Amino acid sequence: MAKYIVEQSGPLKGEVVISGAKNAVLPLMAAALLAEDECIIRDVPMLRDVTFMKEILMSLGSEVVELEDNVLSITTKDIISTEAKFELVNKMRASILVMGPLLARKGVARIPHPGGCAIGARPIDLHLKGLEALGAVITYKDDYIEAATGSQGLIGDTIYLDFPSVGATENIMMAAVLAEGTTYLENAAEEPEIVDLANFLNKMGAKIKGAGTDTIRIEGVDKLGGAKHTVIPDRIETGTFMLAAAITKGAVHIKNAVPDHVKPIIAKLRECGVRIEVGDDDLIVRADLGPQSSTDIKTLPYPGFPTDIQSPFMAYLTTVEGSSTVIETVFENRFMHVAQLNKMGASIETAGNKAIIRGNARLRGCQVMATDLRAGAALVLAGLVAEGTTEISEVFHIERGYEKFIDKFCGLGAKISRIDD
Ligand code: EPZ
Repeated sequence: MAKYIVEQSGPLKGEVVISGAKNAVLPLMAAALLAEDECIIRDVPMLRDVTFMKEILMSLGSEVVELEDNVLSITTKDIISTEAKFELVNKMRASILVMGPLLARKGVARIPHPGGCAIGARPIDLHLKGLEALGAVITYKDDYIEAATGSQGLIGDTIYLDFPSVGATENIMMAAVLAEGTTYLENAAEEPEIVDLANFLNKMGAKIKGAGTDTIRIEGVDKLGGAKHTVIPDRIETGTFMLAAAITKGAVHIKNAVPDHVKPIIAKLRECGVRIEVGDDDLIVRADLGPQSSTDIKTLPYPGFPTDIQSPFMAYLTTVEGSSTVIETVFENRFMHVAQLNKMGASIETAGNKAIIRGNARLRGCQVMATDLRAGAALVLAGLVAEGTTEISEVFHIERGYEKFIDKFCGLGAKISRIDD
């Protein structure tokens, strides 16, 4: 298993270019199943999760070709299987996003029961409730869940989501685009990745309005064609590098970003005393201008503070003046990084979904373990300022979601190397 060796590094300085968003490209790839013609997706981050999604699409009948760096061509002339295989779904939860497109195009979809993961049970009840509302019959078989429509196919309806689930919004939207009639999805997720997916589907011939608000209107059409699309920049990678600049008291120019997508992170870092200059598609983060102080965070669905930045932000809060509180409202078990940060000398106490972080911690390098993608990033940030050397294991988590992670950090002066055990 690979490990990262992170040495105490000085203030990060220089430029970093953000890659396409992992959480946008995965639903975009699934949406390509809806068309027989070629779809071309640009700014695809070359990540393990993208490879997993490519394998799943190919197992269903898609031809997936890497035309050049970061450009994928996906053509699905015919669906040869309507079952996402266990060994693929088990590797990546986002595989369930093929359910909506399979149901829309073939009238049946089978996926294994998606397991939970480190951050929570992550049920799919809202996905299934929405597909049922469109006329699918859900059957729980021993080792997979089947959604199947009768002869009448999918029929548009009004669906209310108990929680603005990102994945459920995406799955239901991708099923409704070929349904008979119009679907209203209420209390929908408003994330930028939802808007990116709706824009791609509309280029394919769908008729979707309201993406990015809490009510999305999808008017069913008979068929979708191929389209070309460029993935939006990754707002979570953007936030991660903003925090890398902040925790090391550096000065970093972040390019190919969408400042509008990281407003909560800009606001919170400014509260801590970090100076942030906002351009049209870039940010300059200056944390070398004076002391930084604590703030309080509460994660919420977009446009609230993103849960995926909670752990990297907590690592940063261990180093500023004063105590902070972090409340995690989106996932039920997303404090796995706390024990690892405390092992490095942080002083964080948790009670339920609330964490109290004492500032001015003298972090010391030691052996720690990445428990999920963003917790791994948090440990790298802590390692950049901890005395000595921090050895991070289970880094495959990190490499699922950050393209050229080490190259980008080393390009800013970070001392990080990767070793294969
Ligand atoms: C997406 O996961 C992201 N993943 C996650 O990013 C992100 O943390 C999450 O949205 C929230 O923003 C991708 O886009 C591939 P949800 P998703 O459905 O769709 C509960 C990362 O690090 N829920 O909005 O799975 C669920 O248990 C990853 O990049 C139900 O109860 O998130 C959770 O508590 C981590 N029933 C909450 O909703 C359902 O049917 C949010 O889940 C679905 C979800």
